[in-house]
Amino acid sequence: MNIRIFDDMQQASAAGAEIIAQAIAAKPDTVLGLATGSTPVAMYKELIRMNKAGEVDFAKVRSYNLDEYIGLDGTHDQSYRYFMDDNLFNHINIDKANTHVPCGTGADHAADAKHYDEMIEAAGGIDVQVLGIGNNGHIGFNEPDAVFHKGTHVVDLTDSTIDANKRFFASRDEVPKQAITLGMGGIMRAKKVLLLAFGKGKAEAVRAMVNGEIDPKVPASILQLHADVTMLLDADAASLL
Ligand code: GLP
Repeated sequence: MNIRIFDDMQQASAAGAEIIAQAIAAKPDTVLGLATGSTPVAMYKELIRMNKAGEVDFAKVRSYNLDEYIGLDGTHDQSYRYFMDDNLFNHINIDKANTHVPCGTGADHAADAKHYDEMIEAAGGIDVQVLGIGNNGHIGFNEPDAVFHKGTHVVDLTDSTIDANKRFFASRDEVPKQAITLGMGGIMRAKKVLLLAFGKGKAEAVRAMVNGEIDPKVPASILQLHADVTMLLDADAASLL
């Protein structure tokens, strides 16, 4: 694991944007695996700036997001489709037809999940997978469990994740209780993984991910087995390493 510790989130985010821009320069139709949450927002802002400055061209880039809430369609302002449009896609020259977010409103989630994995495979797999990390060590919405789940699947969100995400909703009751998420197989097959974590609240999850046992109770710990992981941390998130 390549662990890079920065003075602050801004510097770490700029480094992340640079890694993505280099990947796109080397392969214009790069397949990005993208994440939501507050963590990647500053990196997306930097990519928007670079795109407007002509430093990175998304014209041929394809993207597959990690996850979506069950029951929220793309018009809901807390859906991850809305988040991606609002925080990145609406501000860069990406072709929206090339951007994908799992569907949380279909009639057959298992079929949608299978189709999502097949689309990623047909695209040649993910070149660069962006990840944040949940307080409990989840990546995407792969929650702590008895096993690592391989494919895209529907997951029951844990109380801790519902609590962590309720800040974005009018009340806790409005937070969806389920999500559809890329599985560990999809994440581990990415050629390169870029994980960002900021703040003291992430320090224990980062410690367990990097130094703990490889344990499905800390889903991110499986990244110890990935050959090309770069972690971009601020000093607080790295404080227990
Ligand atoms: C959600 C997302 C994750 C994200 C996590 C952390 O659960 N599904 O992809 O990493 O939240 O969010 P934040 O970056 O806001 O701390």
